[in-house]
Amino acid sequence: MSGHVSGPSAGRAGGRFEGRVAIVTGSSRGIGLAVAERLTAEGARVCLTARRQEALDEAVDALPEGSAIAVAGRAEDAEHRAEVLARAAEAFGRVDALVNVVGMNPVFGDLVGVDLAAARKIFEVNVIAPLGWVQDLLADPALAFAERGGSIVNLSSVTGTTPSPGIGLYGVSKAAVAHLTRTLAVELGPSIRVNAVSPAVVRTEFSRALYEGKEEAVTAGYPLGRLGEPADVASAVAFLLSDDAQWITGEVLTVDGGLLAAGGVA
Ligand SMILES: NC(=O)c1ccc[n+]([C@@H]2O[C@H](COP(=O)([O-])OP(=O)(O)OC[C@H]3O[C@@H](n4cnc5c(N)ncnc54)[C@H](OP(=O)(O)O)[C@@H]3O)[C@@H](O)[C@H]2O)c1
Repeated sequence: MSGHVSGPSAGRAGGRFEGRVAIVTGSSRGIGLAVAERLTAEGARVCLTARRQEALDEAVDALPEGSAIAVAGRAEDAEHRAEVLARAAEAFGRVDALVNVVGMNPVFGDLVGVDLAAARKIFEVNVIAPLGWVQDLLADPALAFAERGGSIVNLSSVTGTTPSPGIGLYGVSKAAVAHLTRTLAVELGPSIRVNAVSPAVVRTEFSRALYEGKEEAVTAGYPLGRLGEPADVASAVAFLLSDDAQWITGEVLTVDGGLLAAGGVA
């Protein structure tokens, strides 16, 4: 267990998320941290998660004072999820939004040769865990997620739309995330909206091998001429969570600098 509220519990006045609380998994760095930065800048309070405590502490310190707590653990671990929900209830008394950011891709190679134990692990973390977060959140009466008109955003990937060589199983898992999103949207309306974002290559630790040393060649395929930055994804996530998107559910929003429109592959 870990984390702390670092001051009075107030977000920025007048922001789209003033008074609201979000759980953002996988948020000590990369896309998750950018989402936390964006939501808190617009008035939210957030509960961050990741495996490493030290990185979480640094992330909390980088956010506006009093806007964040952090709980260390594995997203795929049910005990960790229970602890996060209990800590969020204790610190904030409510949860209005869930952003399932955690994802993994530990294997490289063709689908036909993939180690099946690794395949099960990828599905456990990328698909089953996000569903577990949704189930656990809905089952928690103290947080009244559905009654508050909760909103969920999942992280898919353009590799779930267009097969990418070498990362096929990851793509299959991200296609499953897209369909999980649509199916949950149908099941959970009208009280809860469920959407996803589907990025191409975004400059983070996770994707470093896809662009390092070859950025010019990679971005040549992007009509907007550059890699994604975590903030590009965060702004799309914030839109989908916000009341600006109140008639949008079951949507998988591509955030790719135009890559798919150009017929490209991540
Ligand atoms: N970057 C891209 O190009 C890209 C493109 C499309 C989709 N995505 C998706 O975006 C999501 C985030 O990617 P990212 O690029 O921001 O990655 P990242 O920079 O590597 O950040 C991953 C975050 O998740 C935490 N984490 C990793 N595994 C975890 C686990 N099992 N349980 C709890 N926390 C965990 C990490 O902290 P710890 O290591 O301390 O746990 C870190 O905070 C993933 O779902 C990925 O598939 C990324």
